[in-house]
Amino acid sequence: MPSVCVIGVQWGDEGKGKIVDFLAEKADFVVRYQGGANAGHTVVIDGQKYVFHHVPSGILNRRTKCVIANGVVIDPATLIEEMEDLEKRGVDFRNHLYISDRAHLVMPYHKLFDRFSETAASKNGMKIGTTLRGIGPCYQDKVARRGIRVCNLYDPPVLRARLRQVLSEKNVLIRKVYGEKPLHPGKIADDYLRFGRRLRPFVVDTIRLLHDATARGRQLLFEGAQGTLLSIDFGTYPFVTSSNSDACGISQGTGLPPAKIDRIIGVAKAYLTRVGEGPFPSEIKGKLASEIREKGGEYGATTGRPRRVGWLDLVGASYAVRINGINELAVTKLDVLSGQSKVPVCVAYRYRGSLVKEFPPDAAALAKCRPVLKMMKGWSEELSECRSWRELPPAARQYLRFVEDSLQTPISVVSVSHERNRTFFAE
Ligand code: GDP
Ligand code: IMO
Ligand code: MG
Repeated sequence: MPSVCVIGVQWGDEGKGKIVDFLAEKADFVVRYQGGANAGHTVVIDGQKYVFHHVPSGILNRRTKCVIANGVVIDPATLIEEMEDLEKRGVDFRNHLYISDRAHLVMPYHKLFDRFSETAASKNGMKIGTTLRGIGPCYQDKVARRGIRVCNLYDPPVLRARLRQVLSEKNVLIRKVYGEKPLHPGKIADDYLRFGRRLRPFVVDTIRLLHDATARGRQLLFEGAQGTLLSIDFGTYPFVTSSNSDACGISQGTGLPPAKIDRIIGVAKAYLTRVGEGPFPSEIKGKLASEIREKGGEYGATTGRPRRVGWLDLVGASYAVRINGINELAVTKLDVLSGQSKVPVCVAYRYRGSLVKEFPPDAAALAKCRPVLKMMKGWSEELSECRSWRELPPAARQYLRFVEDSLQTPISVVSVSHERNRTFFAE
């Protein structure tokens, strides 16, 4: 297997975790390169459910090494908790997990500021509906050059001095603008030094590690978090996350040159979901939306929030295919559509009386777009026992062929259940 990237082509939760676990068998390294604990990637094996937030979804494959690369923002308390839960379930991280010494750390004040800004924004209708994991404020500090990185955990005087400096500014805001108690730099430094000691055996120069791996011909599998339509540069700004949750983020987030990435696999749900605020032209509401939400288990893997539900949107998907240079698609959750007599697909938008086929740059314009729906024939058969392309009912195959033709991209993987072994290669 050449080096492959798995990217969400929608608004996240496409089933990337399941596809990464499926492909990890052939990979030597699975690499997370952006996002943080806002991600919730689910893998189900024989009824045992695992939800990964920081840890790459390849960790259940014993042979595969997992890397949390420099572009990820790490909340060390949450990561340690996640690792301890997985250790109790038999995962051994020794020589199996590598954490970048350059990754930025989510600090307690990042989570506080995430909450402050969401509370303030909700008063003027500009709430994003973030996961409140401190992701935006952490990336803000990275860009503002006042972030704290994993390597700082191993130089206590530097860590303490940086925290004093950063908090001298932030505490003014915390006290005077938000009316809350200031944070104590010494206490945070003590906690983070303790986290640093716990994580020490896993911390390495992952740039070096990954370059050596590619030089030795090792196979890399990059695991995108969130989805292209949530990308800071290409998503439905400002209703996006704060990283490049697209293939463009790989080099920045790993230190590997773009030429090292051979294939990009886009993961798409057979329908569409979104968590949080923001435009969603093909959204459906009412009884049908609730039915699909229940059947698909559409509740956030990180926050438990009900996901908004809608029909597959080919305008957004073709934009994502172009942005990422997607070579092939993995389509998940086809089973959830069983029983719909007709399956609508959004093939264009209507905006101020005109037909639009390009994804608009402006979220406000997208919010005014109405979906142009093509009705596809549905199927009544349950699909979760299907083991191959040939076992799919003709109408389900037609649906997938239509998606392939519209996006001019072959579908290589189909998933019909949350279970690991209900994933197969398309024909
Ligand atoms: P990710 O963030 O992209 O990894 O996706 P999530 O794990 O947040 O959400 C996908 C959900 O759908 C999880 O609960 C998966 O177990 C489940 N899932 C994945 N593929 C399928 C599928 O083909 N059919 C069904 N019914 N569930 C699936
Ligand atoms: P995975 O990797 C779905 C959404 C949030 C919010 C916006 C910004 O599991 O697909 P943030 O906390 O990142 O500042 O929130 O992005 N969001 C996700 N939606 N799946 C995710 O991750 C998400 N991570 C963030 O709901 O709308
Ligand atoms: Mg998820």
